[in-house]
Amino acid sequence: MEKIKVASLFCGCGGMDLGVIGGFSYLGKEYMENPFEIVYAVDNDEYCTKIYNDNFKHKCIVKDVRDIKVDEMPQFDMLIGGFPCQSFSISAQNPPRLGYKDERGMLFFEMVKILKERQPRLFVAENVKGILSANKGKAFPMIVDEFRKAGYMVAHKLLSASDYGVPQKRERVIIVGFKNKEDFYKFHYPLKVKSSERKVLRDVIIEECNRDESLFFSEKAVAGMLAVREKMNKGRVMSLTEPCNTISAHLAKVSLNSTDPVFMVGDRYRRFSSREAARIQSFPDSFIFNSVSQIRQYKAIGNAVPPVMMWHIARSLQSCINTPCLERNIVDSMSVVNNTPVQLSLF
Ligand SMILES: C[S@@+](CC[C@H](N)C(=O)[O-])C[C@H]1O[C@@H](n2cnc3c(N)ncnc32)[C@H](O)[C@@H]1O
Repeated sequence: MEKIKVASLFCGCGGMDLGVIGGFSYLGKEYMENPFEIVYAVDNDEYCTKIYNDNFKHKCIVKDVRDIKVDEMPQFDMLIGGFPCQSFSISAQNPPRLGYKDERGMLFFEMVKILKERQPRLFVAENVKGILSANKGKAFPMIVDEFRKAGYMVAHKLLSASDYGVPQKRERVIIVGFKNKEDFYKFHYPLKVKSSERKVLRDVIIEECNRDESLFFSEKAVAGMLAVREKMNKGRVMSLTEPCNTISAHLAKVSLNSTDPVFMVGDRYRRFSSREAARIQSFPDSFIFNSVSQIRQYKAIGNAVPPVMMWHIARSLQSCINTPCLERNIVDSMSVVNNTPVQLSLF
């Protein structure tokens, strides 16, 4: 079967891309190959692109997306990208409009520009939950409107990675857009996995790391944290029996005085190792990170879209594109809308 060709912007170390193409195993489960191939991938960070290129047969290029010459991109059917989320300064404008001061600075416009010029069949954009409330809730509808004006029917939904077999409560907004009405009506967001398939922190902790002194906080750091914990809600110790809180790109610098997740071994506190962080993000253990420094590894890992969550999204996309039986799928997607906390939002 011919594969669906994908162009990936802001590809980072490749969490989203790995999920899209599939063909990996994680915590004993096989995530089979999907009928997608990445034909173009770009990120401007030389360290995460190094990790990317250590892990995929196809290669990504180090480039600022604003320098992409759209007519030089290869042919593709799907554009994907977790665009960096700037703060959108629109609140003081009348009428409010996106990109008022610095359109070049607002990188999601680069996705819009490419969509306008190339009109691929579909796109997927990912962003943090905060985008829904940015600028008192005004920015998000305008972002969606820009995608719509590029010629797409657009849906969005807030997904939690923990609902898809990832041991992390990472919530992300997934925006999808389709050129064809048929694709749009057939699409449904992936169903949550059964509770027996959910993962918790205990599933990814590496016993050896409990003996790695370099991961433990000093007694002084612990005493400092304990002195302010009640007032400041510091020292976020994670429960082994639940998915972990969201890990961030600055995990290398986690301190006990931040709100970042930490872990307790007996009566001692420690940070996660980079391999544990990668597992919390659902990267397979075969994914190589160690050609860059620990700090760069944590950054790339913390920025990534969990591959397993993206795999489920890719399965939904491919079944909507490849399934000829339109009527059956309209029924499916309607029942999904009715059975889950909403929403296939039409704009
Ligand atoms: C949220 S991360 C994307 C992570 C990626 N989707 C993954 O799953 O691993 C955003 C990425 O955008 C990249 N980036 C930021 N500004 C950029 C620009 N102007 N051009 C290209 N990439 C950029 C960053 O280096 C970072 O890797």
